[in-house]
Amino acid sequence: MRKPKFQCPTGMHDILPEEQKYYKKIYDIVSDIADFYGFGKIDTPILEETELFSKGVGLATDIVKKQMYSLKTKGGDFLSLRPEWTAPVVRAYIENGMQNLPQPLKLWYFGPCYRYERPQANRYRQFWQFGFEVLGEKSPVIDAQIIQIFYNILRELKLKNLIVEVNSIGDSNCRPYYKKLLANYFRTREASLCVDCKKRLRENVLRILDCKGEKCQPIKAEAPQILDHLCEECHLHFKEVLEFLDEIEIPYNLNPYLVRGLDYYTKTVFEIFSGSSEKKESSRIALAGGGRYDKLVKLLGGKETSACGAAIGIERIINLMKSQQIKQGDKETETQIFLAQLGGLSKRKSLKLLEDFRKAKIRVAESFGRDSLKAQLSRADKIGARYALILGQKESLEEMIIIRNMKSGKQEIVKLNRVVAEMRKKLKK
Ligand code: HAM
Repeated sequence: MRKPKFQCPTGMHDILPEEQKYYKKIYDIVSDIADFYGFGKIDTPILEETELFSKGVGLATDIVKKQMYSLKTKGGDFLSLRPEWTAPVVRAYIENGMQNLPQPLKLWYFGPCYRYERPQANRYRQFWQFGFEVLGEKSPVIDAQIIQIFYNILRELKLKNLIVEVNSIGDSNCRPYYKKLLANYFRTREASLCVDCKKRLRENVLRILDCKGEKCQPIKAEAPQILDHLCEECHLHFKEVLEFLDEIEIPYNLNPYLVRGLDYYTKTVFEIFSGSSEKKESSRIALAGGGRYDKLVKLLGGKETSACGAAIGIERIINLMKSQQIKQGDKETETQIFLAQLGGLSKRKSLKLLEDFRKAKIRVAESFGRDSLKAQLSRADKIGARYALILGQKESLEEMIIIRNMKSGKQEIVKLNRVVAEMRKKLKK
């Protein structure tokens, strides 16, 4: 087939009607959980000042260096499509005076993000995220609760083989010393590092720990570990997070190499993967990522405020739901009745009847554009309707309607004004 003249931009996709049920299912579960835990929903503009991200997410991160969709407006403003939500949410928190409300403030969101990445499976240029942020609370119980919420959402979506990995990357007290130690270590082995890690050594040494390349693995394995170099406060905080996780029975692995790709984190970081633990690290799919970010609010111009949160990639979950064959066929939303009509009077009566079914909250499919009964019944068959209601010219005149059982072929005739009640009874059986 010839390619159409216009196509979706690379790495982006349409969300067609048959896909929408996945988004809806996820939205419904997430919004219920958000309600339960007292999170309020927030929407922010898709565009933000570019500097919000270069400052918030970090100049040396891949996101800011390579992946932003940035533009200059006619008025001369430099804006970028949001590559993530945390910096915009913090901007809104400061700008709308939410720091003066009773704390902690809990916010959640659900919407698209944009990153100019190399498209591949599970990596898109437009992808949807939902996330939860808790602002104004420094207790480690929140770190554990955020992990619990994300784990439970994925469990509720019936996803299997979930792996939670946690680490602490310290704070401005202990991380600078650790980074120096790490840089010294890698410098003596620079010749054996991959090309990217040679660059990381100069720009962001922590990211070497994140390298998935074969060549760097043996060098990483011998590197000093942050958990041995945390200051007392970070050490205690992390210990308590793990104790809470034990208490609420969330299974987790400690991963000393987990450093995350965004610069705002302090103390706890975590990711949730899908895949078996024996699988190679590079073949696992990161579903959720997050952690504590106690310095971001101040960095973006607000008061010193502790915070913690995480986000999930929605397409990645949907791909997994499909590959794990998690059915979305919600019985209640399946259409079990098809209304077929023959001729002008029947068509008019059918329009009215359809309204009666809608008011009774019973789903009915139709194909009013077609006139042949054969075509309409074959459509009823296609959508898997259990019953077809047939309104012919004769029935219309007599205020009657035929109910046809699509499986057995048996037919009965009832009064038109009784058919809604009759169908309700049948559907309950
Ligand atoms: P992130 O790890 O960059 O963190 O993204 C979170 C999740 O979004 C990932 O685990 C992944 O599922 C999904 N994701 C990221 N990039 C792509 C992509 N190109 N295509 C498809 N899915 C993708 C953040 O964005 C932080 N804001 C999370 C956070 C919230 N930290 C604290 N609060």
